[in-house]
Amino acid sequence: MKALLYNKNNSPYKLQLKEVEKPFPNDDEVLVKVVTASLNAADYRSMKMGMIPKRKIFGSAVSGTIESVGKNIQHLKCGDEVVGDLADFGFGGLAEYCVAPGKAFIRKLANTSFDDAVTLPLAATTALKALRDKGNIRQGQHVLVVGGTGGVGSAAVQLAKYFGATVTAICSTKNIAQTSALGADTVIDYTKNDFTKGNIRYDLVLAINGNYPLLAYRRLLNSKGIYVMVGGTLNQIFKSLLFGWLLSFGGKKMKPLTAKANSEDLEFVAKLMDEGRFKAIIHQRYPLDKAAEAMHYFSKGHAPGKVIINIQER
Ligand SMILES: NC(=O)c1ccc[n+]([C@@H]2O[C@H](COP(=O)([O-])OP(=O)(O)OC[C@H]3O[C@@H](n4cnc5c(N)ncnc54)[C@H](OP(=O)(O)O)[C@@H]3O)[C@@H](O)[C@H]2O)c1
Repeated sequence: MKALLYNKNNSPYKLQLKEVEKPFPNDDEVLVKVVTASLNAADYRSMKMGMIPKRKIFGSAVSGTIESVGKNIQHLKCGDEVVGDLADFGFGGLAEYCVAPGKAFIRKLANTSFDDAVTLPLAATTALKALRDKGNIRQGQHVLVVGGTGGVGSAAVQLAKYFGATVTAICSTKNIAQTSALGADTVIDYTKNDFTKGNIRYDLVLAINGNYPLLAYRRLLNSKGIYVMVGGTLNQIFKSLLFGWLLSFGGKKMKPLTAKANSEDLEFVAKLMDEGRFKAIIHQRYPLDKAAEAMHYFSKGHAPGKVIINIQER
């Protein structure tokens, strides 16, 4: 099969399309013929940190069709259309076929395309975890999403609206129209306005990438407000872990998102999408032989929506 392999000597992107052996599922795994993969920060961050998957194939979110199942698999069968998150199972999605434990996948719902479904793992599921589980979002709250246009941010804006919040989103000039169209009540252009100095206080601040100092975020919270940091560089995560608890004395709470999304979270957002209550925001599509370029572009951190890799012809 064709797969995008990590090769540190291959310039400029360290990734190379190669012919490799098709994987074989063990008793607890399924073999999936990948239709579409989507790129996620987990891919390029792992690569930058030298955390290379055993089979040297990145790709954490996939949709496709089950080709064979291990004998212990009960909930899936050959021919099922599925979507899954491989980040905890050795990656491997940027290839014509992948194997992973059955629990990595859920059935793709009928009204949702493979391309739309693949935008959900790691992006919408992370936004859900951050808002609902860490941020304890409630109807009528005022929520600030800092970085409202990437895969996680665009999902966070939509989900915060779904939960009945008033949403203010932060993005750059070029993404204002898109972020408003997602339902944000107010959109602030961070290149023109320093929103950290404003007078409005929020019940919940979701910081995608943690681009501003913790104290600036804390200032934006009302007396019982919650700040949740999603992702970011190791340095940002470290600071948030180290100082977040110190800044959480009193009513305000400052937390990094540490919990990982699971298949129930994926089912939740997949159902919303299938019912037409949550939109896939696809920014660009690339074929597998251009996936290295796609990864390079995506890793710059300004893609307004998901970058997806179309692997099989449909
Ligand atoms: N389990 C987890 O914790 C988990 C899972 C998945 C992802 N993540 C993390 O979530 C983060 C976001 O990932 P993503 O896929 O959504 O993509 P992304 O491409 O990193 O999204 C970046 C967002 O940040 C905005 N941004 C960039 N610079 C900014 C600034 N100075 N001020 C305000 N906003 C700024 C961008 O908007 P503009 O383009 O308009 O500048 C864009 O909306 C990553 O750090 C990733 O590691 C965590």
